[in-house]
Amino acid sequence: MDVDVFLNKAMAAVYTYADFAAGIRPMSTPLNVVILAAGRGTRMKSDLPKVLHPLAGMPLLGHVLAAADTLCPQKICVVYGHGGETLPQAIARPDIAWAKQEPQLGTGHAVQQALPHLDPEAVCLILYGDVPLTRPETLREMTLIARGGAIALLTVHLANPAGYGRIVRNGRGQVERIVEHKDAAPEERMIDEVNTGILCLPTAKLAGWLARLSNDNAQGEYYLTDVIGMAASEGEQVIPCHPATEWEVLGVNSRQQLAQLERDYQRTVAETLMEQGVTLIDPARIDVRGSLDCGRDVLIDVNCVFEGRVVLGDAVKIGANCVLKNVSLAAGVQLQPFCHLDGAKVGADARIGPFSRLRPGTELAEETHIGNFVEIKNSQVGFNSKINHLSYVGDATVGQRVNIGAGTITCNYDGANKHRTVIEDEAFIGSDTQLVAPVTVGRGATLGAGTTLTRDAPAGQLTLSRAKQVTLPGWQRPVKKSEK
Ligand code: UD1
Ligand code: CA
Repeated sequence: MDVDVFLNKAMAAVYTYADFAAGIRPMSTPLNVVILAAGRGTRMKSDLPKVLHPLAGMPLLGHVLAAADTLCPQKICVVYGHGGETLPQAIARPDIAWAKQEPQLGTGHAVQQALPHLDPEAVCLILYGDVPLTRPETLREMTLIARGGAIALLTVHLANPAGYGRIVRNGRGQVERIVEHKDAAPEERMIDEVNTGILCLPTAKLAGWLARLSNDNAQGEYYLTDVIGMAASEGEQVIPCHPATEWEVLGVNSRQQLAQLERDYQRTVAETLMEQGVTLIDPARIDVRGSLDCGRDVLIDVNCVFEGRVVLGDAVKIGANCVLKNVSLAAGVQLQPFCHLDGAKVGADARIGPFSRLRPGTELAEETHIGNFVEIKNSQVGFNSKINHLSYVGDATVGQRVNIGAGTITCNYDGANKHRTVIEDEAFIGSDTQLVAPVTVGRGATLGAGTTLTRDAPAGQLTLSRAKQVTLPGWQRPVKKSEK
């Protein structure tokens, strides 16, 4: 049984008024998520707000929102400030409440700006917009603790805890308070358990503590972390939670940290793919910027980039240095090295590349062959048809078993409008042919090499447009004057 369903049932059976009075809330308690993203991000040295910098093709804030979404919150409130309206405009989600923090007086002050948007009956999960990779499982555990009435605090032991807030525990090992690095005494700086900043707690209690924060500290800021000390002194339970891996709680402050987290993310994706049975020639040389779904026995060579939603069927082979964006390849497709595919759908056992470019709207049927330096856009190519060399096929409908010779061009654009080319089944297009659309090549027709087709070619016949070949008798090559 799903853990939530289980806990819901268990709660429903035993939940009493005494629990309610003690601050324990049933599983149906709504969840509100607050994401702090008002900071400056100075060390990025960028005009783009820090949380909009992409990791695996998605803004940092997008990752945090995606994790929040998995928890089905009643409300998400993002606290923003530095960078102005760029942030709400870029994220463009009408379901999000935006709270402006101006000026930025600290993390506690930031959460205060979100309070008017929050449901006092809810539990509140506080996340950072620049900590992108926290796993939903970790956050879910925290929401369960808060729904039970306690305070869940995400902490981690770091080899180098410098700069972070330290977790101060009492003699019995219970969390007593958090001391910021700049305020910490030398012995407190020895503590290697640090505050990740992520916590989850009942909103009404949070509101009470926030109202009592002061900025009497080394940085003159209203620290959210002081809430922990207040809670503990009032006898509230503060329960530390820990991430499964360190990168789950790492924040991005610089381009170096962003690049490092990108590698952490890609390594995890590569490991998951291999666990699912995908062969990666080098797991350190694959980049997935979206979702990649693979069938059985897929092989991916080095330096491939997958963007958007990519689906690879059973036994698909991807050669080195390919870029695939929003593509689906059916079973047995072989992609040779150096192909660029965007918005294409490819049928089973097709052979593509090397150096092929498939643009949006390309649909290739089973067993098609697309070769080097061929560009296809907004076209359907039928079963077993071949376009093997140096061609442009745009806005075309190509039938089955068609052979398109080297250097063929569909002239689809008259300078103002696009027109379609239709090539019926079993047609044979000679090399270096231009098909001036709109034009149709009939079933089984043959076009002679070098044809410029401006009118329809009838089925089953040879059509060609070509100047008559002549040979000039007695012609001599010019020679250089000095040789005379
Ligand atoms: C904070 C914690 C510290 C913790 C560390 C983890 C406090 C007082 N300290 O320190 O215990 O170890 O995070 O990285 O909370 N922000 C706002 N408005 C503000 C200030 C910050 O929205 O006025 C946002 C920032 O955009 C950022 C997050 O809050 O996303 C953390 O701010 P930051 O300045 O990095 O906090 P630290 O001082 O590093
Ligand atoms: Ca920070």
